[in-house]
Amino acid sequence: MTEYLHESVFTWAATPLKFGAGAVDEIGWDLAGQGLTRVLLLTDPGVAATGVPQRVADSATAAGVAVEIYDGVHVEPTDASVRDAVEFARHSDWDGFLGVGGGSAIDTAKAVNLMTTYPADLFDYINKPIGGGRAPGGPLKPLVAVPTTAGTGSETTPVCIMDLLELKVKSGISHPALRPTTAVIDPLLTLSMPPEVTAAGGMDVLCHALESYTAKPFHSFARHTPQTRVAYNGANPISDTWTEKALRLLARSFRRAVLNGGDLDARTDMMLAATFAGMGFGNAGVHIPHACAYPIAGKVRAYRPRNYPSREALVPHGESVSLTAPAAFRFTFPTDPDKHVHAAEILDPAAAEHDPRERLPWALSRLMRDIGIPNGLAGVGFGESDVPSLVDGALQQQRLLSVAPREVGDDHVAAILADSLENW
Ligand SMILES: NC(=O)c1ccc[n+]([C@@H]2O[C@H](COP(=O)([O-])OP(=O)(O)OC[C@H]3O[C@@H](n4cnc5c(N)ncnc54)[C@H](O)[C@@H]3O)[C@@H](O)[C@H]2O)c1
Ligand SMILES: [Fe+2]
Repeated sequence: MTEYLHESVFTWAATPLKFGAGAVDEIGWDLAGQGLTRVLLLTDPGVAATGVPQRVADSATAAGVAVEIYDGVHVEPTDASVRDAVEFARHSDWDGFLGVGGGSAIDTAKAVNLMTTYPADLFDYINKPIGGGRAPGGPLKPLVAVPTTAGTGSETTPVCIMDLLELKVKSGISHPALRPTTAVIDPLLTLSMPPEVTAAGGMDVLCHALESYTAKPFHSFARHTPQTRVAYNGANPISDTWTEKALRLLARSFRRAVLNGGDLDARTDMMLAATFAGMGFGNAGVHIPHACAYPIAGKVRAYRPRNYPSREALVPHGESVSLTAPAAFRFTFPTDPDKHVHAAEILDPAAAEHDPRERLPWALSRLMRDIGIPNGLAGVGFGESDVPSLVDGALQQQRLLSVAPREVGDDHVAAILADSLENW
């Protein structure tokens, strides 16, 4: 067999999907077609109030599939809220699951599918080094994802994320078996998203696209065996194709979707962008902004996003990811100036007037100002004295940092966080 020093193989997978206005009303047919008869639908109270979960349940019932709704999903799930959902799910037997909502509902559905199919302590499954990184005992039950935000791409990714309350850090479970079996993606469902949720979700999409586009290329990793090859392969020609397409859609429609939520063309572009970015980062991976986002969200003190549906202190995932993005891309610029410049010019042609290294940070800051994202870590209540503990939290996300295009040590993370206190 040929001896390779570096990786020469990458893998690519995504959830089979149905996309388009009205797709959700066909869902009964999709569920029955998978042979499902008794399904648990997981959603959060805000999404339940839109009536969408009941519409899904009605369509399923009409197709002969019994559905029970659990509307207790926590917005930005925690280990405690996941355990509550698992406890609820155990009151009956299900032959499949539905996740209806944003990343919070779909991620909770993934965890419930895993924990009810192969019961174990939740921390056994959480990624190393925080948890045991245990693999599921085999295939999971069918999970149909119905996203109602243009954001996480969770409907097509093999991960679920949760806040580990005692450790004050976010982490997750990552395994290809978690990937939903089908996604039904209907942009009409996002028309009711408030501007603040649209802005945060869109920044999540943008960071998925930019981080996977600038990730360490797959061929710079050490050679894996088929047994050790991980879902996050690094940037590769297929993920680059999807992430570039996502950037073009975001450039055209992100501001419009935030400023005029009724613009269906903009909503459709954003839903496609979320899907495309998911197809990219779900295989390439994300790196520094996501690694920093987890302690930023986990260590929040009093910040409450303006007009956000949840009343708890929280930094929505898309906000937490975006805060360090300008500084992170300033740091990764030397690894591939052409890609950074290309991404900046897709996003905002006016970036061309700036020094090449500053183009992407400039385009990001200008966008974030326009759509009302906080202006940096100071805007969500952190100061210089918080940097050391945020560094500790970010360094625990080695699964993500290993996909960064250059070595990231504690001094680098500290400098990126210090550079992110105020972005403009
Ligand atoms: N699995 C993954 O690949 C992945 C990737 C990124 C983020 N995440 C996780 O996903 C979670 C965030 O998900 P999100 O950004 O999609 O938001 P979300 O699911 O947390 O929802 C945000 C808020 O918007 C409301 N909402 C959602 N859709 C709505 C609609 N159509 N109309 C009105 N209100 C609506 C919800 O009730 C909630 O209050 C975080 O926990 C994050 O860590 C997962
Ligand atoms: Fe994300």
